[in-house]
Amino acid sequence: MRQTQADPHLLVIMGATGDLARRKLLPAYAHLALRGLIPDGSLVLGAARNAELDDAGFRGLAREALGEEAETWWGHSLFYQSIGGETPDDYHALAERIEALEREHGLPGNRVLYLALPPAAFPGTITGLGEAGVSRSPGWTRLVVEKPFGRDLASARELNQLIHRYFREDQTYRIDHYLGKETVQNLLVFRFANPVWESLWNRDRVESVQITVAEELGMEGRGGYYEQAGALRDMVQNHLTQLLTLVAMDVPGSFDADAIRHEKVKTLRAITPIQDAHVVFGQYEGYLEEPKVDAQSRTPTYVGLRLEVATWRWQGVPFYLYTGKRLPRRTTRIRVVFRPAPVSVFRPHHTEIHRNVLDITLQPDEGFALSFDVKTPGPTMELATQHLDFQYAEAFGPLPEAYETLLLDVLTGDQTLFVHAEETEASWELYTPLLEGADLPVHPYLAGAWGPPEARRLLGAPEP
Ligand code: BG6
Repeated sequence: MRQTQADPHLLVIMGATGDLARRKLLPAYAHLALRGLIPDGSLVLGAARNAELDDAGFRGLAREALGEEAETWWGHSLFYQSIGGETPDDYHALAERIEALEREHGLPGNRVLYLALPPAAFPGTITGLGEAGVSRSPGWTRLVVEKPFGRDLASARELNQLIHRYFREDQTYRIDHYLGKETVQNLLVFRFANPVWESLWNRDRVESVQITVAEELGMEGRGGYYEQAGALRDMVQNHLTQLLTLVAMDVPGSFDADAIRHEKVKTLRAITPIQDAHVVFGQYEGYLEEPKVDAQSRTPTYVGLRLEVATWRWQGVPFYLYTGKRLPRRTTRIRVVFRPAPVSVFRPHHTEIHRNVLDITLQPDEGFALSFDVKTPGPTMELATQHLDFQYAEAFGPLPEAYETLLLDVLTGDQTLFVHAEETEASWELYTPLLEGADLPVHPYLAGAWGPPEARRLLGAPEP
């Protein structure tokens, strides 16, 4: 059941000196505090390997991340504990520090353990925290795990098993930051609060669905990580698959984390194995010259694929997923193409009726547009496509940051926007065969093009 108010708590950030903590978490937490959503007395304990740092040093680091004005309200609620060489003793020292802070500040023992760490560090940290007993507290304890969650089905299962050794599923919050985006959450409202769409949302009316997450940026210094990941692991297994399940799932029994995640898992399990012929990998020209990238690398920076969701609702409707780095512009968009009119009564005069298309733009220029044909004024029967559209910015102004939404949900105990263990495994089950049969060709494409030409030839990849 959703709480609206967070309880007083201690937020423990593992990896507190890293990029994610400084660029996303601390600012998101600070904004929540400014909005009055963090209860008085709550504390943040940063933990990292750096043994030189102390409370004052960590506060300095936070000042750099947040600006000086943050200090007035943040003051002395930030602390730091080194986990040095990550030995059991280091984790015991961390556990003691957590208890001491809770005792000294009269906190009831509610803890968020946020793993803002590279994935290789997850198992050691979970074990360290678990063995030191940090997961057992007088209040609630919640573990937050960043993506990528595993590298394939076997490693995701292993990680889930390890987590469940110390934490229950209802204590575990797997992050996919796309779920924190307002426009992604709105997909559920758009679909389930507006019956006009729901009656069209099926194989009788929909011809195809295209989900595109295009990025203009390339590696931005993340070549080392990306070499280990590639576009399938970095974007498709998580972000695009989440969008797909939100579009394709059935109506949940209620707007409740379990009901929604149950429907998502059902949808994932209904996807038929993806055929090699329906997958196109690409790599932008220039990728091999990026820092920390192997000169012979075959890591894909682009994936286009086609899949089918074998449910009564969607049987036979192709879903296309496209994502890539160094594409012409940044856009995340879901395009629902409706079936054409069965006959054209205008035929003697005019040849073509265009399909109705619903474009849901998730970022940037958030909004949606429905295209339809109208008669162009004049004596002849000419048709032209026009749009009905809605823009978030016009209606509501700027949207909140995903991390703010997700952090608040962790603090209030709402798991709706977090990925269930079964979802991660069902998704890896789908994509692991494509990783293992890594013999598929990786086609080059020009930076600034919409992926390799093969994608268009094989899949009919759209240009957004
Ligand atoms: C991250 C990926 O999860 O999502 C990045 O690791 C990618 O490679 C990023 O750039 C995209 O997120 P957003 O919110 O900018 O669309």
